[in-house]
Amino acid sequence: MNFSSHTLHSPVAVFDSGFGGLTVLRALREQLPEEDFFYFADTRYFPYGERPAEFLRARCVAIAQALQQAGAKALVIACNTASAVAAEAIRAAVNVPVVALEPGLKPAVELSRNGRIGVLATQRTLESERFQRLLASYGAGKEIFGEACTGLADAIENEGPNSSKVAALLDRYVTPLQAAQVDTVVLGCTHYPWASLQIAQRLSPGTQLVDTGAAVARQLTRRLQAEQRAGGGQGRLLAGTSADPAALADKLERLWGASLPLVFWAPQAVAADVRPCVS
Ligand code: DGL
Repeated sequence: MNFSSHTLHSPVAVFDSGFGGLTVLRALREQLPEEDFFYFADTRYFPYGERPAEFLRARCVAIAQALQQAGAKALVIACNTASAVAAEAIRAAVNVPVVALEPGLKPAVELSRNGRIGVLATQRTLESERFQRLLASYGAGKEIFGEACTGLADAIENEGPNSSKVAALLDRYVTPLQAAQVDTVVLGCTHYPWASLQIAQRLSPGTQLVDTGAAVARQLTRRLQAEQRAGGGQGRLLAGTSADPAALADKLERLWGASLPLVFWAPQAVAADVRPCVS
């Protein structure tokens, strides 16, 4: 598979462990409607949140290199977990712009009135050095309550945000934040915005939820402009998965709210036939 055979012209490649990063893709498309995008869900290795950091680094570097080799002009790591453990390794391994995510602690600190902030994220994200640095930079003098939401991304992706499994997990993870009287909650995993309604229902009215999709889109816009890589696309969109596309097409359509072409793609499978897009 190469991008040009799917009529994508030097797309921005966006990747996540699964379909959570579509919440970021939505914001990217809103701000950059003329860019072509390739969205990759590494479904075969989903979920990332409980995998060893070493494995994730190697896997994400392989994905990033293959995306660059296939002709991506920029990469967005639409996954807090992958960003937390692999952003530096990815940046060292490719020479296209790389936009990484981090839980929106900085905007949350600015928004919070009572200085009590909840962070919902995966175990890997919360225990990462990157998150510890964020805490040191913005958490001073605030009460930050981190909840490692084991199983939540998986339940959102595989059972849907309205499922009883998601409800039970949210009862477990959000109720302590409510008890801690937070007034701001960071959605520190790209799957969680799919369940923002269900999360908000478990918090006091007026509690602010912080999602970083729009900020990531602004950052990508700046990087593309600064490196003269903006434009040249036609607003085309293609999704890929490292698992069976036929088994996932319905789920993708339900989440995305419209049909979206989905093909098989995986780093090791492209190595033989990649050809960069002609620019
Ligand atoms: N969506 C990913 C994130 O933002 C991770 C979910 C997972 O694979 O555990 O952290």
